[in-house]
Amino acid sequence: MGHRILLVEDDARLSGVLAEYLGSQGYECVVARDAEEGLQQAMAKAPAAAIVDVVLPQASGIDLLTALRALHADMPVLLMTGHPELGSAIEALRLSAEDYLIKPFPPSELGERLSRALRKRHLVGEEAQADAAEDASSGLTAEGWRVLVQSVEAICNALEAKDSYTNGHSQRVARLAQLLALEMGLMGREIEAIRIAGALHDIGKIGVPEEVLNKPATLTQGEWKQIRVHPQIGFRILRPLIGQPDVLDPVRHHHERLDGRGYPDGLPADQIGIGSRIIAVADGYDGMTSARAYRPRRDSSYVAGELNRCAGTQWDVDVVEALFRAVPELTKRRTAMD
Ligand SMILES: [Fe+2]
Repeated sequence: MGHRILLVEDDARLSGVLAEYLGSQGYECVVARDAEEGLQQAMAKAPAAAIVDVVLPQASGIDLLTALRALHADMPVLLMTGHPELGSAIEALRLSAEDYLIKPFPPSELGERLSRALRKRHLVGEEAQADAAEDASSGLTAEGWRVLVQSVEAICNALEAKDSYTNGHSQRVARLAQLLALEMGLMGREIEAIRIAGALHDIGKIGVPEEVLNKPATLTQGEWKQIRVHPQIGFRILRPLIGQPDVLDPVRHHHERLDGRGYPDGLPADQIGIGSRIIAVADGYDGMTSARAYRPRRDSSYVAGELNRCAGTQWDVDVVEALFRAVPELTKRRTAMD
């Protein structure tokens, strides 16, 4: 028999489907209907991982997560919810839930997330000691980094997986931001902070209603206001987890503009750091080159034109130049415009 997995879900139909699937994948699945029963099962015999519904009768899944953390600090816990709310997502992150699944999801998705969580936990155990010395030098412990990486994956994946148009956006922005930082001559940890900020930059969208995020038509003023708070929400979510300004600032300031007309703070150019400037360009580029519900992806001529037009007002000129160097196709288009 494979790993013992604790499944805590009060919906008997759903727990039946998931338990059957996990059984078919070789796991030994133990089902509990509420938090108390789940805790008893976990105390009787330590599971390799737990899958916990956030909304349970009496004590919630978050309460159970707290208790499980006290009992088995290293056990991966995957939370499931039909009602993604900011409060429970923040709590889940603080308590280092391994992953966060938004219902409905196919059982195979749970299978993939579970096996990834188990693999990662195994790797973290081996690498934690080796990483500890280096991470301590930055003021972040190995455990802190682990929580951080989990947070990135859990929330960003859960958010983007719901929308085929934004799927993979944060990871692409992270990679491009890293490339631009390298191209601009930044070094080691600066580049790493920008990469992490890129992966996390839109985490605050969890606080914006899905129907507003995915609206295939022009937004009303009220809806636009809701969108504009996502950098602040992201900052608030991450601040208790990460004390590093070079990660936090770009999350808050990735929609600021050099001409002071950006959001959420309307900062003047001299208060917008290099990380924020880089992520703003990487984000803008990925947005233009990805299809949206209301338009296809933009071609290179359009993108080159927009980069030229907005360099110096919205975007940093040096970062835009670094992007032209990094994507030769854009330079060709720009030359053709001259
Ligand atoms: Fe954003």
